[in-house]
Amino acid sequence: MTKTRAAITAVASHVPDYILSNKELEKLVDTTDDWITTRTGIKERRILKGEGKGVTEMAKVAVEKLLEKRGIGPEEIDLVIFCTVTPDKIFPASANIVSAKVGMSNAFGFDLNAACSGFIYGLVTGSKFIETGSYKKVIVIGADKMSSIIDYTDRQTCIIFGDGAGAVLLEADESGSGIQDSILRSDGNGMQYLHQVAGGSEYPPTEETVAARQHYVHQEGKTVFKFAVSNMADVSYEIMERNNLGADDVAWLVPHQANLRIIDATAKRMGLGKEKVMINIHKYGNTTNGTIPLCLTDWESKLNKGDNIILSAFGGGFTWGSVYLKWAYDPS
Ligand code: UT7
Repeated sequence: MTKTRAAITAVASHVPDYILSNKELEKLVDTTDDWITTRTGIKERRILKGEGKGVTEMAKVAVEKLLEKRGIGPEEIDLVIFCTVTPDKIFPASANIVSAKVGMSNAFGFDLNAACSGFIYGLVTGSKFIETGSYKKVIVIGADKMSSIIDYTDRQTCIIFGDGAGAVLLEADESGSGIQDSILRSDGNGMQYLHQVAGGSEYPPTEETVAARQHYVHQEGKTVFKFAVSNMADVSYEIMERNNLGADDVAWLVPHQANLRIIDATAKRMGLGKEKVMINIHKYGNTTNGTIPLCLTDWESKLNKGDNIILSAFGGGFTWGSVYLKWAYDPS
């Protein structure tokens, strides 16, 4: 019997126009273009400017491009999974908001929060609705407006993050392409090293929490770096091993873009040369849930049907994981 798998059948992305360069950051905090470039690989990032503009502003554009590319209408979408740590509001879900904005009137949707690993968690979650035959067209969005929770007086974090949105369409595939395997992990003991202290039910917003700058991202960079390097590399190697994939069998690694040194360590562990690694961190920085779909969109013209692709991420929580998929279509 032919196995039904969930395949990515279209990808699209959107980033805001405003470019925040390393040179501009030099004016905000005690840093240098050289330090940022050598320690992270980032040269610039995009920022969504304007009052009252949340993450769904960017996601809306990405989804509209996605539907246009696939040549389908918004009413054909069954489910929207919106992976983000910066929803427009705590409730209702940004999935609902973007569905209304785009006209996906037959879709139900929900938000998924797994920090920087959110997009791969969302992809695996969405794939189950396709594999079981429950739904035919599922959109997984990975998007964040990180500038809404970044402290631009903290040089440890403000140099890293940026804003951006990506989206993929999942549909059934019976030709052998699509999602083959996944490994998803989490460990709440890592919470303290990368989190937003206040704003949730534990410490609701007060004048004191605002004054103490507790609504911004707090990160102990060095510790997160160590966990990210070992866990992202291990999980990427593990998924290759259990699927009997050697380095020659892998066409592309699509890593979460948090730090070029973490990406290099992961590729090295997998035995992959730089030519097989998607890297756009220099242009966008770390867009949290946006990084992987932004890469897939940037590299879409280089992807061929049957290519073995490994997606890999690590993020706050801690959360991490990898997905092995076979690309489902040739460049148009
Ligand atoms: O995506 C979610 C997961 N997040 C990550 O994966 C991020 C992981 N962490 C990192 O990418 C890195 O730890 C950072 C980029 C955040 C920091 O790089 P690092 O190489 O780990 O630097 P460090 O924290 O060890 O700091 C080294 C030095 C320190 O100075 P001293 O103590 O050696 O005098 C810092 O104070 O660099 C200093 N420093 C800076 N200098 C210039 C820290 N930030 C900056 C800065 N500009 N922006």
